Amino acid sequence: MTNEADRLALSRPGADAPLLLHGAGCTARVRPWPFQPDVAHLVLLRQARLPTPADLERWEVALRAVGYRSVRTGAVGAAAAGCMERAGYHIAQELVLLQHDDPRTAGHDANDGFTTRRLTGADDPAASEVDCAAFGGGWQLDAAAIDDVRHATPRHRARGLHATAGQQRLDGYAITGRDARQGFLQRLAVHPSVQGRGAGRHLVADSLHWLARWRVQRVLVNTPTGNDRALALYLAMGFHRLPERLRVYERSLA
Ligand SMILES: CC(C)(COP(=O)(O)OP(=O)(O)OC[C@H]1O[C@@H](n2cnc3c(N)ncnc32)[C@H](O)[C@@H]1OP(=O)(O)O)[C@@H](O)C(=O)NCCC(=O)NCCS
Repeated sequence: MTNEADRLALSRPGADAPLLLHGAGCTARVRPWPFQPDVAHLVLLRQARLPTPADLERWEVALRAVGYRSVRTGAVGAAAAGCMERAGYHIAQELVLLQHDDPRTAGHDANDGFTTRRLTGADDPAASEVDCAAFGGGWQLDAAAIDDVRHATPRHRARGLHATAGQQRLDGYAITGRDARQGFLQRLAVHPSVQGRGAGRHLVADSLHWLARWRVQRVLVNTPTGNDRALALYLAMGFHRLPERLRVYERSLA
């Protein structure tokens, strides 16, 4: 066991304490993948500086030593993709990147019957329930991952949606991020029992309006290549596809 692995073995963190792995000029943050504690979710914190093959090898030793059986990255762009492929990682998911150039133009039907409210951290378990029902297939978020999404940007807006006024149950939620004049639709989920009735449209319009209030002009969102519903929704709301693809990579540590 390396010194680093030794240290980590004594202190594999829980969901609320990410593990930081340092390389030559780059850092990665690791948490257990939501609902898959044996899978390490590795997020490169500054993708401008990529890990070297030696960094990745050392990180894998360290992750194996603390009990992970595989490692999966966050969504990475072309430069990091090459680095992961050279290190033997395979593609777990491919994502389309879309951009909106003027959120001020987003229409909003205030009389569509939906109500939204601010979501606090205390609502994250309820948001996770919606996420689990909407996503599935291993891509759903737990409350800790939703908290990560909230804090991925310096400013964020988290809204919960109710299909019926006064009702307790959460039917959908959206988290929108803002970093200076750049906006991000970070997460969007509508419970299957209310899908197809305009709730997704309502949440996206709310996100775009919030970004427009802060004079954001460029908004990015990504979604898996086969997610036709989400793609149709984003295109209908004025986003256009960018040529760049993002990818999630995975590697077994066995
Ligand atoms: C994507 C998602 C948020 C859409 O929410 P929704 O409430 O069903 O969407 P809406 O009813 O507001 O529909 C808005 C648009 O989406 C598209 N859409 C909705 N349901 C659709 C369906 N069954 N088939 C194809 N397109 C559909 C249409 O373009 C629709 O516009 P229209 O009403 O003018 O025809 C929802 O399906 C969901 O939570 N999916 C799983 C999680 C997910 O994919 N999240 C986002 C991407 S990471």
